[in-house]
Formats: sequence, C-alpha cells, structure tokens
Amino acid sequence: MRPRTDAAAQIALCASAAYFWRMTIRPILLHPDPRLKKVCEPVAEVTPEIHALAADMLDTMYDAPGVGLAAPQVGVLKRLFVMDCVKEEGAAPRPMVLINPEITWTSDEAATYEEGCLSIPEQYADVKRPERVRMRWMDLDGATQEEEFDGLWATCAQHELDHLNGKLFIDHLGPIKRQMITRRMVKLKRERARAG
Ligand code: NI
Repeated sequence: MRPRTDAAAQIALCASAAYFWRMTIRPILLHPDPRLKKVCEPVAEVTPEIHALAADMLDTMYDAPGVGLAAPQVGVLKRLFVMDCVKEEGAAPRPMVLINPEITWTSDEAATYEEGCLSIPEQYADVKRPERVRMRWMDLDGATQEEEFDGLWATCAQHELDHLNGKLFIDHLGPIKRQMITRRMVKLKRERARAG
C-alpha cells in the first residue's frame, strides 16, 4: 500500500539501507494484470526461498517507497505480505513479514482512509474498512503470531490481505470510479511500454 504522504517511508528507506547490505529490488506488477486477480496459495513451509522473497519484498517496498507489499505484486502467487507503517519521525522501522495471514476479529467501528497502491501508481481513493482488526499469521521462524492493528496498520494489513485474495482497493469503489482508474492505468502502461 502507498499512502499519499510518504515521508515516513522515506525515513524508513534510509534506515533500511543500513539494515540490508544486499538490496534486491523486484519489479512491481501494475494493474491491470491477471496475476493481481488470483487467489494465492498458502505457504506450506518457510524455506530459504521464502526468506529471500521476504527480504526482497521489504527492499522493494522501502525503495518504492510504500508501507505494504504483497507477494502477488512481485508476481509470486503465495500468501504472504510485508508492511512497515511506522510514521513517527526518527522512530525505528518495524519491518513485518506476515505469512498465511488471516483475520480473527474485526471491530464494529469502521474508518475511512485515502488509499493508494504500488500496483496502481498515483491513484488514490477513500476506502471504508473496519477500524481495528486482529490478525494471525506465521512468522519467518515458522511461529504463530497474533496482534491487533489499528490506524494505518489496520488499513494496510487489510489492503495487503485483499491482494492475497486477488482483490485491489479499487474493487471497494463504485464501478464508475473503478473503471476510470483502470482506464488511466491502461494508458500509463501503454506509455511506459512505448518509452521502453
Ligand atoms: Ni496494494
């Protein structure tokens, strides 16, 4: 996910460059792409390939910059995503890797947040979702984790989980707005292809 103000991600980017001495940026798929519409497969086992994928996804997310990135966005149809929504200036980054995530509880209260997506550059729209969620997932050590998220973390976690089910934030919008954004993206992809 990409928020409109990405100063926080810029700070996280500087911090992350020190964390990873081998940076691998993977290309991010742009909507419309059939791979972004697929329901992803669960991760059966945390292999060295999954560790490498998660590290590359964090590098790619911080580089973009964004606050969340799901595996299908780099063309891997597996159920995992990364996020770091730390936005306080000078605060330490909190890179998170969530494997086979699932929502175990949602608040009755909803919140509206202006969302963006690294697969839909420069397009933003208000999306209403539960304000808080509890999520359970497997970490890179294969251990089960559970945590309640609120604020930007809750929005981002739900946005990224949607990706694993082939759903984009524009699928929460009405058809006219969704088609308008998709037309813009088709045009952008055509321009980028022409620019080579
Ligand atoms: Ni996204």
